[in-house]
Amino acid sequence: MNLSNSYTRQEWRSILQRVDSAIHSAIEERIKRGAVSISDLASGFSELALLREGREPDYSVPGIEIAYAFKYLPRRVSCLLGALARISDRGVPARVLDIGAGSDAASLALDVWSPGLTSPIAVTCLEPSNSMRSFGQRLKLTPRVQRRWLSGGFEALYDGHPEIPLASFDLIVMSACLPYADTDWIRLARTVGELTAPPASVIVIEPNQKQWQFSRLVAGLRQTGYYAIQEMCCHDLDPIITSEIKLPNTTAAVLAGCRPLTPEPVGSSAPRAVPLSVSDASDHRVYSKCCCSTKLNQRMQSLGAQILNLPNLPSRVRSIVGDAPYPVTSWNSNPGYRESIAICTEG
Ligand SMILES: C[S@@+](CC[C@H](N)C(=O)[O-])C[C@H]1O[C@@H](n2cnc3c(N)ncnc32)[C@H](O)[C@@H]1O
Repeated sequence: MNLSNSYTRQEWRSILQRVDSAIHSAIEERIKRGAVSISDLASGFSELALLREGREPDYSVPGIEIAYAFKYLPRRVSCLLGALARISDRGVPARVLDIGAGSDAASLALDVWSPGLTSPIAVTCLEPSNSMRSFGQRLKLTPRVQRRWLSGGFEALYDGHPEIPLASFDLIVMSACLPYADTDWIRLARTVGELTAPPASVIVIEPNQKQWQFSRLVAGLRQTGYYAIQEMCCHDLDPIITSEIKLPNTTAAVLAGCRPLTPEPVGSSAPRAVPLSVSDASDHRVYSKCCCSTKLNQRMQSLGAQILNLPNLPSRVRSIVGDAPYPVTSWNSNPGYRESIAICTEG
C-alpha cells in the first residue's frame, strides 16, 4: 500500500489534470445534453453568491451545480486531499460516508489521492439536492471508487436510516455541509459517532463563514468521547496542495456554456461582443455576460467594468464579477481565505 501524504510538483500536476478532466467532462456533458441552459448557469452563479454573504444558497436551483463545480469544487478536493494526507497512516478507508456530498468532492479526492492504489473504496453519498447529485453522478472516476447515491440530508440519519447501517463506516466526511441555522449539534455528533466502525476517522471541513457551526460540531464530537481531534486551517496543509490551482479545461467548459451570449461571427475566430443593455440588466444577466466577457474579449471586458461601476449594482453581483474567471485557489497568497479542518480519529 502506498498512500500519499505529500506530493512532488509533478505528481501534484498530474492529480490536478485528473481533477480538471473529471470536472470539465461532467460540466460539458450537462451543458451539451441541454440539462442546463445559459440562464440556468447565470442563476446558478447568482444563487451561489449568497455564500459570500454568509447565507445558504438554494442548492435545488438548476445551474448551481455547474457554478459550484467551477468555483468551489477544486478547493474542496484540495482540502480533502490535505485532510486525507493526515490520516494516511491509517490505511485506505474501505467504506466511506459523505454527508452532504454535493457534487462529489470526497469521491474525487479519494480517487486521485494516491495514484497506483488498487484497493476498492465504497462511498455512500448522501445529498439532498437533485442538481448537485446529478452532477456528482456524472463525475467519471476509476472503477476502484464505487459510489451509491442516496437522497437526503443529515437529518435523515437521525433515528436510523434504512439503507445506512450503524457502525459501518471507517471514514465519514462532512465537507461544507453544515447548516447556517442552529441545530442540535450534540445529536448530530452522536449520530456520526454511531455510524462509524472503530478504528474510524471523521473529517469536518468548513469555510470561515461557518466557523461557529464548525466549532459546535467539533465540540459535540469531542463530547462523545470517542475522538482524538486535530484542528487546523487550510494554510497548515502541505504547501504543494495549497499553491495555486488552475483548471484550464474546466474554465473553458464553463465559458463555452456562456458562449451563445457572444456568438462567433461566421469565418472569424474572434468572438464578437453582443450589445449589452446594462440599464435593465438583472443581476443574473449581468453576471452571465461578464462571465463570458472577461475571458473572451477586450470590448466585453470594458463593458464589464462599466457594469461594475453602476451605482445600484446588487452587491452579490459585484462580488462575483470582481472575481477571477478561473477556478483558482491560492491560499498561500490569500491568508484571508480560510477553511477550518478537523480530523477526528478514534483515540
Ligand atoms: C457547499 S456544498 C458542499 C458539497 C460537498 N460536500 C463539497 O465538499 O463540495 C453544501 C452541500 O450541502 C447540502 N446540504 C444542504 N442541506 C443539507 C443537510 N441538511 N444535510 C446534508 N447536506 C445538506 C447541499 O445540498 C450542498 O450540496
